[in-house]
Amino acid sequence: MSDWKNLVRDVPDFPKTGVGFKDIMPVLADADAFADAIDALAAPWRDARIDAVMAIEARGFLLGAPLARTFGCGVVPVRKPGKLPGPVLEARYALEYGEDALQVQADAVAPGARVLLVDDVLATGGTLAAARALADGLGAEIVGASVLMELAFLGGRSRWNGTAPLHAAWTI
Ligand code: PRP
Repeated sequence: MSDWKNLVRDVPDFPKTGVGFKDIMPVLADADAFADAIDALAAPWRDARIDAVMAIEARGFLLGAPLARTFGCGVVPVRKPGKLPGPVLEARYALEYGEDALQVQADAVAPGARVLLVDDVLATGGTLAAARALADGLGAEIVGASVLMELAFLGGRSRWNGTAPLHAAWTI
């Protein structure tokens, strides 16, 4: 078994000065590490019923799609504004570096659908909180959230504030 964590690269001062970027591209490029990372994301929900994975742009797409195949469910992209044909729901959020918004198609899942939110990194938690708000707006039942890495020193978990579990495959 590969240790996918060893392949995550720390890139200082990217995308701007003072930000430490976690580069997961080497994990994605290695067949064994990629499979192990997807397994680590899926682990808590192996026996759960999940109707859709809601994958957050952009690196969340690369994890969410194979994860959905693991569960045998569909994948719903949660995207930056202007990328999805409407009607869409929108949630604004503060980022580790800047401010942005996320959108989801208003008919992406049926009300009551059981969804899992997926992203690569939990940093300040704004992105995941916005995705959660979108899932709520869709009337979905949030089974939980799964991230590859949680940067615990940034305290993002405190913004999750839900009863559903937030799983981090690796807490740093
Ligand atoms: C990064 C990362 C998460 C988010 C986490 O995405 O992929 O989605 O930041 O930050 P937060 O917890 O502080 O909100 P980014 O906004 O860089 O978008 P990208 O994946 O499209 O590059």
